[in-house]
Amino acid sequence: VQAAKDGKTVVIGLAADSGCGKSTFMRRMTSIFGGSAKPPAGGNPDSNTLISDMTTVICLDDYHCLDRKGRAEKGVTALAPEAQNFDLMYEQVKAMKEGKAADKPIYNHVTGALDAPEKIESPNILVIEGLHPFYDERVRDLLDFKVYLDISDEIKFAWKIQRDMAERGHSLDSIKKSIEARKPDFDAYIDPQKKHADMIIQVLPTQLVLPTQLVPDDEGKILRVRLIQKEGKKLFDPVYLFDEGSTISWIPCGRKLTCSFPGIKFYYGPDTWYGEDVSVLEMDGQFDKLEELIYVESHLSNTSAKFYGEITQQMLKNSSFPGSNNGTGLLQTIIGLKVREVYERITEKEVVPVS
Ligand code: ADP
Ligand code: G6P
Repeated sequence: VQAAKDGKTVVIGLAADSGCGKSTFMRRMTSIFGGSAKPPAGGNPDSNTLISDMTTVICLDDYHCLDRKGRAEKGVTALAPEAQNFDLMYEQVKAMKEGKAADKPIYNHVTGALDAPEKIESPNILVIEGLHPFYDERVRDLLDFKVYLDISDEIKFAWKIQRDMAERGHSLDSIKKSIEARKPDFDAYIDPQKKHADMIIQVLPTQLVLPTQLVPDDEGKILRVRLIQKEGKKLFDPVYLFDEGSTISWIPCGRKLTCSFPGIKFYYGPDTWYGEDVSVLEMDGQFDKLEELIYVESHLSNTSAKFYGEITQQMLKNSSFPGSNNGTGLLQTIIGLKVREVYERITEKEVVPVS
């Protein structure tokens, strides 16, 4: 399935709590490189790995050293560092970065046990996604680009309800309890990793209207989404709106963009993130007509798009994915283009854009 790799392996880290949109984001990112991502051919049907021509995405749950039973016996959650085998994670990510294959374990999410390992060839782009990609300093130092999805508690709750109630039949009460039970370990081990990220997507409730002005159906759906971008990095340039370094607030609704209640607002400006300089691009609200995104795209610079309208084209192509009508889809697409730019700068190879 996978084309022979030539040259360097670029390693990307994607960190977030579970249920925070990692798989959706990965689908947007791999779609920029073309080819559909599939599990390793002929392997374990419960594999968590997704392979396409250019990219291999592995899930760090595969490096649990304590399985479900082991965690229950020791009284630790899946977020605890004691439940991860960081030594093996480091060895295998390092091996793949050096062009070698790895016999990676598989954490079976159905049984909660570890299955026999699968052989993963060294890809052009290796993405490690999960709860702890930046936790261990050795693993962190192997990463060429780090992304953190920072979902506020309100929105995380709304997404969990949507998924766990509708798709998994859990009750509202049990979802609340499971979120509360995870929270102390999330705060202790997962959230602090975000200071290391090169780019962070923050997802917050809208500020366009008061919560009481929203109809119940829109609660947790109208989002204020911020892309926090570290300044001064060699491998990528932050995207900006209108004028680099300025502070800009922009309401594009009117003749060129259709906006129904409560509208759309963009913001761009400098800020700091754990003491480091960043610039922030923010979108609050949602699009009515996705094709009109081209109007917004034409006002963004340093997007790493290879032709006029590439962001809009990607968004239209993946319009069935969650978040396509708001800032989550837009800013995830922009990060996907940044991954391509990082790859090109490291390997000095050009990736041909796909439509
Ligand atoms: P993860 O891989 O981190 O567990 P997923 O990408 O599978 O997360 O997303 C989990 C659920 O959260 C989805 O099924 C969907 O209901 C919801 N979700 C994810 N991203 C978004 C988004 N941008 N907008 C709305 N809902 C989303
Ligand atoms: C995986 C996920 C965790 C989830 C866990 C379930 O490791 O990444 O987010 O909590 O499985 O573990 P449990 O101990 O509830 O079976």
